[in-house]
Amino acid sequence: MDWQRLPTIDTSRLLLRRISAADVDDFFKIFSDPEVMRYWSTPPIPNRDAASKLIGEIHAGFERRESLKWGIALRTDDSLIGSVTLFHPDFTHRRAEIGYALGRGHWGQGYMQETLKAVLTYAFDVLNFHRLEADVDPRNAASVRTLERLGFQREGYLRERWHVNGEIQDAFFYGLIRPDWDKAHPSTTNS
Ligand SMILES: CC(C)(COP(=O)(O)OP(=O)(O)OC[C@H]1O[C@@H](n2cnc3c(N)ncnc32)[C@H](O)[C@@H]1OP(=O)(O)O)[C@@H](O)C(=O)NCCC(=O)NCCS
Repeated sequence: MDWQRLPTIDTSRLLLRRISAADVDDFFKIFSDPEVMRYWSTPPIPNRDAASKLIGEIHAGFERRESLKWGIALRTDDSLIGSVTLFHPDFTHRRAEIGYALGRGHWGQGYMQETLKAVLTYAFDVLNFHRLEADVDPRNAASVRTLERLGFQREGYLRERWHVNGEIQDAFFYGLIRPDWDKAHPSTTNS
């Protein structure tokens, strides 16, 4: 893994790329929306300054090697429509956690399946991970469906795991292991 620069990943309609200070307006629009943030682990971003600060923290997290967060941009105009993250990459145990969100105007168009297929392929084939994990609110039907379509298996129910905006939230814990991914996607290279 080259920690000098976040790699860019191409898909047919999208570019997964570094989020820059110039993306602040798109970033704020997405992550200040209460509907997008309904089952997120933090409350909606309150203002543009907080969005700028968060973009700085994303860069610091990469520099500390704690996370790889890509902006999801449309190839047509490079506008930011969401983000996808590999958190806590662990090269000893060959695993990481994933997180993702799309701005509301871009739901229901297959963008997250396209994004996650590309990021999972990168995680298994390039980073040589063996296992990816996700933690999702049981009420977040679109996210549950997104994970299960990709082959993630539900491995646990974690009670009262999150405190967000005065609400205590449960979590489903999901895992996707490399043998299951390879079986479902035999065309990806096995390194
Ligand atoms: C989760 C999210 C990324 C899904 O992205 P998307 O591209 O809009 O996903 P889709 O519209 O393809 O929906 C995924 C599936 O869930 C289903 N679905 C969507 N909303 C649903 C609902 N309210 N109830 C039941 N199923 C639902 C869709 O029909 C689709 O099923 P299919 O694959 O069988 O067609 C998007 O909803 C989002 O950004 N949500 C806010 C952020 C978030 O919660 N992130 C995840 C945190 S764990």
